[in-house]
Amino acid sequence: MRVLVTGGAGYIGSVVVEELVRGGHQVVVYDNLSKGHSAAVDPAATLVRGDLRDRDTLRATLQAERIEAVVHMAADSLVGESVQRPDKYYDNNVGAGLSLLAAMVECGVQRLVFSSTAAVYGEPAKQPIEESDPTVPTNPYGETKLAFERALPWYERAFGLHTASLRYFNAAGASERCGEVHDPETHLIPLVLQAAAGVRPEVTVFGDDYPTPDGTCIRDYIHVVDLAQAHVLALGAVADRSCIYNLGCGGAGYSVRQVIEAAGRITGREIPLRIGPRRAGDPAVLVASSARIQSELGWQPRLGELDVIVASAWQWMKKFPGGYRRSASAA
Ligand code: UFG
Repeated sequence: MRVLVTGGAGYIGSVVVEELVRGGHQVVVYDNLSKGHSAAVDPAATLVRGDLRDRDTLRATLQAERIEAVVHMAADSLVGESVQRPDKYYDNNVGAGLSLLAAMVECGVQRLVFSSTAAVYGEPAKQPIEESDPTVPTNPYGETKLAFERALPWYERAFGLHTASLRYFNAAGASERCGEVHDPETHLIPLVLQAAAGVRPEVTVFGDDYPTPDGTCIRDYIHVVDLAQAHVLALGAVADRSCIYNLGCGGAGYSVRQVIEAAGRITGREIPLRIGPRRAGDPAVLVASSARIQSELGWQPRLGELDVIVASAWQWMKKFPGGYRRSASAA
């Protein structure tokens, strides 16, 4: 298929593009490069630098490239920032998304795969979380992702769009070419590896008094390549129906301390850590049930072991110590 990937120059988007290319799809990346990196875009894909609110460029791209399906990944995704700047999150995650839907309707593109998030569940009452559990976001990030998700059934009814909302848990790790680099970096695994590499003096553990076995928060880390493969499967599913899927590895999840221990094992380096206060809004445990996508689409996480995830992130960081700005052979 001819697929447009919005946000395809970002961390997860660039790996999704790689997997789509590997699956034989023709990919056009549509990205304003506000956070993404042109160097992260697979050379087999076409990059169009554009904003989703620029409806003329968007429509022209959909038409000129004869796009048949869209994977919509362009978004703002920092929970803390969303609390400070709800306006920015509504504008980008809802407003720009609706601009995309309008262009799709105008151009007759009827298949959409949407990047949603575990943040739509807020503080869940039970684990593992199933798709049918209540959605009660506790921040504008989760709220705006849910608002867009909730628009989709209405667009299906009125305009015939088929959509898949993929609720990501904690994406981590790297492919050979593409890895995680954000500015500022807020995610645990890159921060821990930066502490291992000596790029930062220490990592702060946000609370060790949670009701978990070692007192630190538990999350469901999913390798970005496993996550990307789910998008390829979801594209097939939206040929004739709409769906919502959680994407995590399930099981018991991993605590912050377990992540730091894994990074110590893999890097062979001491990781200086400091116990700090809890970070506002962090639930103690977030673990997905991904039974639905496993049974309906046959998706399986193949790289779900924590050591595999952390090792891939470390390999990538050693290969690209300056991120996408420059590459070198060793850290
Ligand atoms: N953590 C630390 N120290 C740090 C950074 C993180 O202890 O310096 C802890 C957090 O408190 C949390 C865990 O490590 O318990 C993971 O934190 P991340 O920031 O890596 O990831 P989150 O679980 O907060 O966020 C993820 C996605 C978000 C999404 C959110 C939904 O990265 O995009 O899940 O719940 F919004």
